[in-house]
Amino acid sequence: MIIKASAQKYSDADIRLLVVFTGERQANDRFILSEGLTAVDRTLDGHLIKLLDDERFSGEAKKTVSVSSNGKIKAPRIVVAGLGDPKKLTIQDFRDTVATVGRNMRNFHAETVGFYLPNELLNVLGPEKTALGVTEGLKLGLYEYINYKRPEKYPFTLREVLMFVYPTRLNAVSAGISRGTILADAVSYARDLVNEPPSVTTPAYLAREAEKIARSSDLVTVEISDKKDIESLGMGGLLGIARGSDEEPKFIRLDYRGGSGPNIVIVGKGITFDTGGLSIKPSGSMETMKLDMAGGAAILAVFRALTVLKPKITVTGLIAATENMPSAKAIKPGDIVKAMNGKTIEILNTDAEGRVVLADALSYAGKKLKPEVIIDLATLTGACMVALGQDVAGLFSNDEALRNDIEMAAGRAGELVWPMPLTKAYREELKSTVADVKNITKSRYGGAITAALFLEEFVPEGVRWAHLDIAGPAYAEKDAPGTPVGGTGFGVLTLIEYLLSRHP
Ligand code: BES
Ligand code: ZN
Ligand code: ZN
Repeated sequence: MIIKASAQKYSDADIRLLVVFTGERQANDRFILSEGLTAVDRTLDGHLIKLLDDERFSGEAKKTVSVSSNGKIKAPRIVVAGLGDPKKLTIQDFRDTVATVGRNMRNFHAETVGFYLPNELLNVLGPEKTALGVTEGLKLGLYEYINYKRPEKYPFTLREVLMFVYPTRLNAVSAGISRGTILADAVSYARDLVNEPPSVTTPAYLAREAEKIARSSDLVTVEISDKKDIESLGMGGLLGIARGSDEEPKFIRLDYRGGSGPNIVIVGKGITFDTGGLSIKPSGSMETMKLDMAGGAAILAVFRALTVLKPKITVTGLIAATENMPSAKAIKPGDIVKAMNGKTIEILNTDAEGRVVLADALSYAGKKLKPEVIIDLATLTGACMVALGQDVAGLFSNDEALRNDIEMAAGRAGELVWPMPLTKAYREELKSTVADVKNITKSRYGGAITAALFLEEFVPEGVRWAHLDIAGPAYAEKDAPGTPVGGTGFGVLTLIEYLLSRHP
């Protein structure tokens, strides 16, 4: 797919579809942000606005209307896309609107498309952000996971995307396109990793992907610990959860050295399939459990983006990867394991496995690295979905400034996170009679919080730490414009935004 900025006149371009944005219809029946609309309407002798009037088109965000251009311009079709109230326009609404347009293109089999980006619109979002949003919206909206489908009879491929702007805006718009391409490709890669069947994306597979990333860049090194190394490291948690599986666990470490600053550590839960273990899940709850390495997939995707963006920062990525399987060798409720930081864990429910493998990853960060910040991403609890629904990640942190930075990063990335408390009083509930901590609580309530409190037990002393429980947004159960059913790549954009903000 070629995406480029163009100073050509929109009416002369050799495209199948022209996209024009507009703000919402006001009380006086005029549209806000109508510079593009007015221009195209004039070319069409007033035909366009009349049609929008006939259809009572509101200009609401994510709403589109398509019109034939009647031969007045080269493109045979025009899509008018609403953006609502420009003052309230968020990057996710903009992206979703473009994603909706992308679906229109697929319906019309429009393989070449042009976006009319008038100055009025570029001034609302900024030229670079506008181009970035169009690029991300198109690529993510048209994302498909078709590795295992028979080839379609009439496959749709978007061949060329043009963004029409004044010559003075060409550079900024081109920059937005490049960045949008890198980011959307990273998100799509994370989606692919989640969508691929769980017997393919084993811990060894994730390790091979990490090796590929390291091979592709001088700035990245990789270290894979196999079962023997994991034993020597003293990672009793990861080993314990892996016991029931025929697949060897892997502990994956990636280092990105683009600068000399303090080390930022990002950690991903890499349960490549979560059956629940002996505390086995009912089959309905197990159906989507290939998603349980979405945190790890996000880490790999972020590293892939770092190799291209090359910010001057230092980042270590850690992924604790294993399956969680029942078998005669599997860990049993009542078993006790010792994590790498020396703390013992009573395993009372083998389905609360994520926190147990993350205990070792966090301990590793404390023992082997000098982290200035640790951020972990984990599809950790169903309870977080009960609390915040399927679109919003829970954000926990022991540091207000870090929490704030991540909230801001998520805002810029257009991903939804919401702060959750690390309620001290609930720590009592994690006390075990036979070990230092247990991996579940008696109470049915506050499960996302107690899981986060469990992780905090393994965070190195004095280190700023944030935990994103992405159980909800990591996977889309129903289709939406920007996120087709399946892995969403959630967290990739937020992490990248955060890391780039640390660029000196
Ligand atoms: N991987 C699951 C959490 C999950 C559930 C992610 C649904 C995405 C969608 C996790 O390992 C798990 O099973 N957690 C248990 C914890 C419980 C046993 C304390 C849960 O949430 O039920
Ligand atoms: Zn589980
Ligand atoms: Zn899990």
